Amino acid sequence: ITIRQATIYDLQAIQNANLHNLPENYMLKYYMYHILSWPQASYVATTTDLSTYEHDEEAQTVDKYSQKKIDESKTDPSYANPKEKVVGYILGKMEDDPNPEDKTPHGHVTSISVIRTYRRMGIAEKLMRQSLYSLCECYGAKYVSLHVRVSNRAALHLYRDTLQFTVLKIEKSYYADKEDAYSMKKELVLEE
Ligand code: ACO
Repeated sequence: ITIRQATIYDLQAIQNANLHNLPENYMLKYYMYHILSWPQASYVATTTDLSTYEHDEEAQTVDKYSQKKIDESKTDPSYANPKEKVVGYILGKMEDDPNPEDKTPHGHVTSISVIRTYRRMGIAEKLMRQSLYSLCECYGAKYVSLHVRVSNRAALHLYRDTLQFTVLKIEKSYYADKEDAYSMKKELVLEE
């Protein structure tokens, strides 16, 4: 598994993975906005081990775009490896409309997911650490925030226990289906 910066050529695979893994979905232009505005804040996890991938129906649906990518790669030299498949992504950004009471530059994790067969391998942790590092190092974020469903045990474990985020508050009926969200935050410090 390789973790690398996401490019516009990954957008369709990221959107497919998001549609597959989460009820919070976005228009393609919102993904593009992230990648064009803060190119170092979003990452993908990819594999070139097609033996596992080709027997994974879920992964196949996430990769509906692959043929188009292969066709594009013939004309676009910047797309280096058409055989790699996206198995996870993180979409990060700087908060561009900060709360008037809090002018501290800070980042926000819009969305992260890993396709089912590749979970519990540390991929989400790696994606998070890479994005948090770059939000701090490249964009000067002093802290990073995110929202998570109160029922999302896996994500909550990842944020609270593995990455030491703290719960700021519960936002009532934050999601479209009225589920509450934990609003979470982690201070970022540059490592020496
Ligand atoms: N149950 C309990 N803890 C879990 C679970 C689980 N099912 N999965 C991950 N964790 C925790 C553990 O603490 C784990 O550390 P450990 O394995 O050493 O115990 C830690 O998270 C890191 O696990 P990773 O292997 O890095 O996580 P993974 O790659 O499996 O991805 C994720 C976790 C992204 C939450 C995945 O389950 C997923 O894609 N879920 C569906 C989409 C989703 O809920 N995304 C988050 C929404 S909130 C947002 O996007 C801001």
